[in-house]
Amino acid sequence: MSIFDKTIDIVFGRWKSQILYTGAKLGIFDYLTTNPKEIGQIAKDLNLNEAMTYRILRSIASLGFLKEGNNGHTFSITPLGELLRKDHPQTLQGVLLLEEGPEHYQIWKHLPRMIKDGQQNAFLSEYGNNIFDYAGENAVYSKVFNDAMSSYSAMHTSMVLEALDGYDFSSFSHICDIGGGQGHLLSHLHSKYNHLNGTILELEPVVNNQDSSWPNKMGLQDRCTYLKGNMFDHIPPADLYIMKMILHDWNDEECIKILSNVNKSAPDKSKVFIIEHIVPDPTTPHFSKLFDIHMMCATSGRERTKEEYESILNQSGWRYIQTYYPSSKRIGVIEGIKAK
Ligand SMILES: C[S@@+](CC[C@H](N)C(=O)[O-])C[C@H]1O[C@@H](n2cnc3c(N)ncnc32)[C@H](O)[C@@H]1O
Repeated sequence: MSIFDKTIDIVFGRWKSQILYTGAKLGIFDYLTTNPKEIGQIAKDLNLNEAMTYRILRSIASLGFLKEGNNGHTFSITPLGELLRKDHPQTLQGVLLLEEGPEHYQIWKHLPRMIKDGQQNAFLSEYGNNIFDYAGENAVYSKVFNDAMSSYSAMHTSMVLEALDGYDFSSFSHICDIGGGQGHLLSHLHSKYNHLNGTILELEPVVNNQDSSWPNKMGLQDRCTYLKGNMFDHIPPADLYIMKMILHDWNDEECIKILSNVNKSAPDKSKVFIIEHIVPDPTTPHFSKLFDIHMMCATSGRERTKEEYESILNQSGWRYIQTYYPSSKRIGVIEGIKAK
């Protein structure tokens, strides 16, 4: 790709993601199959305007997520489009609906202002509430948010299992997943390691809405239980604490509060796994460097280097041991042990 084409591709990136968002929002990816369907039928079944439907489907096909028949009257789904179906095992539909949805779309407009005045958390500026309090008060957004976390986890869980393949879990009997959301990671760890029991510590609105929880879906309710709570207050004792995509939501001071709080209830020799995007050296392009800007818009947090996580652990009563990576290096698992 020439530098001109590459620049064009990035400049118009938002158009592409909004087109895909519209396809997901209107149920197009869940409806279409590999058998071509007539445009009139598609519009009728999805209750859409036929002429407009043709134009949006043509644009989605142009991105490779659908296939348009030679005659322009039919559409079918492609393997790329399948990834945007709700029921795909690695579904990215939840991520798309959250990150291109109305709440998150709005916060990006604050970016130039934040870079000037140094005040991050556009979510707070835009909605007058931090993201988790807003989710607690908005059932529709909360569902989109929690489904998106499972959608992210559909990517992350397999990366964590790969990174920790060969890790000795035999000394752990109880894991606490702090802010474990719908429990995708904890349930899959329990499914792999039969001797484990676990607790998902979550905010009340998440615990009260378990329709889509993974312990329920995977029949693991006896071994994976929910506990309503606040990680800034009480944390239950466990041999291993997992925090996936938690610390990147918070600034350093807040992270030290959370980890010190975990440390208070952690038995001797207990461990912590911090699972995050890890920012690599300055010369390596990495998704974490983009996600960091999203965290700037959405929260008080940031993405960090391995050394920055090590420093936070050391300031909270933990000692850094090592970091495990999957082959993609998209995320990392930082292991710490209780030091005092
Ligand atoms: C970015 S999500 C990550 C969810 C999950 N760990 C994952 O990776 O899919 C952050 C989670 O932290 C939870 N959370 C936020 N503040 C919390 C608090 N004070 N106590 C407990 N959980 C909290 C949210 O409800 C949300 O599920």
